This record gives sequence, C-alpha cells and structure tokens, in this order.
Amino acid sequence: MDGNGRWANRRGLTRNEGHQRGVENVEKIVEKAGQLGIRYLTLYAFSAENWKRPQSEVDALMKLLKSFLKKQQKHLLENEIRLHTIGRVEELPHSVFRQLKIVKEATKHFAKNHLILALNYGARNEIIDAVKRYTEAFQSGAENLGDLHWGILSQYLDTSELPDPQLVIRTSGEHRISNFLLLQSAYAEYVFSPVCWPDFSPDLLETAIEDYRNRERRFGKTGEQVRQEQDVSLKSTAQ
Ligand code: IPE
Ligand code: MG
Repeated sequence: MDGNGRWANRRGLTRNEGHQRGVENVEKIVEKAGQLGIRYLTLYAFSAENWKRPQSEVDALMKLLKSFLKKQQKHLLENEIRLHTIGRVEELPHSVFRQLKIVKEATKHFAKNHLILALNYGARNEIIDAVKRYTEAFQSGAENLGDLHWGILSQYLDTSELPDPQLVIRTSGEHRISNFLLLQSAYAEYVFSPVCWPDFSPDLLETAIEDYRNRERRFGKTGEQVRQEQDVSLKSTAQ
C-alpha cells in the first residue's frame, strides 16, 4: 500500500494526513475484497524497515493502526473474518500488540475469510525466525534434516496457516518488492499500479483481478501443457 506520503505532498497536506486517507481506503478495499470473494487479503501495513522513518511519523502510524483495529473489530466479527498477523508483532508498542491479540483471539474461529496484516514484517527476518524454529525442532528430534523440503520449512514461516499469495499488487508506480513475502510469492502474479494508495479505488482492485484472471499461469510448464490440462479438467467437471 504505497504512496500515502506522495499523495499528501502533492495536495499540500502532511504525510500523516496521507496515512489517514490511506487507512480510510483500507476500509473500502477490505469491504470490496469481501464482495469479490477474495478469501485471503494481506496488507503490508508496516515493514521492518519503516522504523527508520521520523519518530513522529512512526508514532502517527501506530496510533492509526490502533484506531483501525478498534474500528475493524466490529466489521470483522460481523463479516466473520479472521484476523492474522505476520511479522515480529511482539516488537510493536505494547498497546498495539495487545489490541492485535484481542482481535485475533475474538476472530480465531472464523475459517472462511481472512485478513492478514503484515506488521513489522520483512521476509528476511521471517526466514531467520523460521530457520531458528526449525533448528529447535530438529534439535529436539521432531524434525529430520534428510526429510527437509519446502513443504516442511514453510510450516515454520509466519504464514504457516496461510496459502501463498496468487496476486500481489503494489501501488504508487514503484516497481519493487521491498522484502514482502519473497518466498511465498515465488509464483505470484504482480500488478504494479501507478495510482497512489489513497486513490487506489475498489474499482481499480476489481480491474487488477480481471487482469490477473486473464493471465496464463504456467508454473514452469509450457503453455501447451497448461492448456491441455485445462481441457482435461473442464471435460472431467462436465462429466
Ligand atoms: C505507504 O505510504 C504507507 C506505509 C508505508 C505505512 P508511504 O508512506 O510509503 O508513501 P510514500 O512512498 O512516501 O509516498
Ligand atoms: Mg513508500
């Protein structure tokens, strides 16, 4: 969700006002995602690198996050959406961490729809934490190095309970990944939108998804193989 600061600067507003508008947009996009039947929506809200920003901006972001959580609690409960987090959330200000815990606990029995907030998240930190957890399990005899494959190691990532993202959208015209779900998005499709986050409307989300649906995902195979498999599966569903 990039471009809050630039969106605000272009309008003679403060960066924090841009973040405020960004949060309002999150609320709209969460709603639209539900309407579109997106079962897993991950929002990269605060990266492990974002602590380097001026303290006043970090403080404002944390305050916004807390009020967003308070407001969203009702929406999540009413719409039966489970809240997850990825990232080192225990390093967030205690009041934010506590609020996250409350909402996660209150929604943990919902299985269908999921909202995932990436907070103090960085893919490199995540892999380090996963390797540490795996090593502990290995040392206790619960894992065997000879059996290690991606399916096993991925169970130690923050996303162990979540499917890989199919589509990653980055707004504001930047063409980089910035340490977001590097391993999980190995086969994701990307959409880079020139629009800054506060203006990334529900209609633009829908357009991005249409774009995604029109792509041929080959997962290393040839286009011919993929189309043949689609024909076979279409025939078997028709039978
Ligand atoms: C994204 O907007 C919001 C967060 C990282 C929290 P930015 O704050 O990165 O906006 P720009 O990139 O400065 O425009
Ligand atoms: Mg940015």
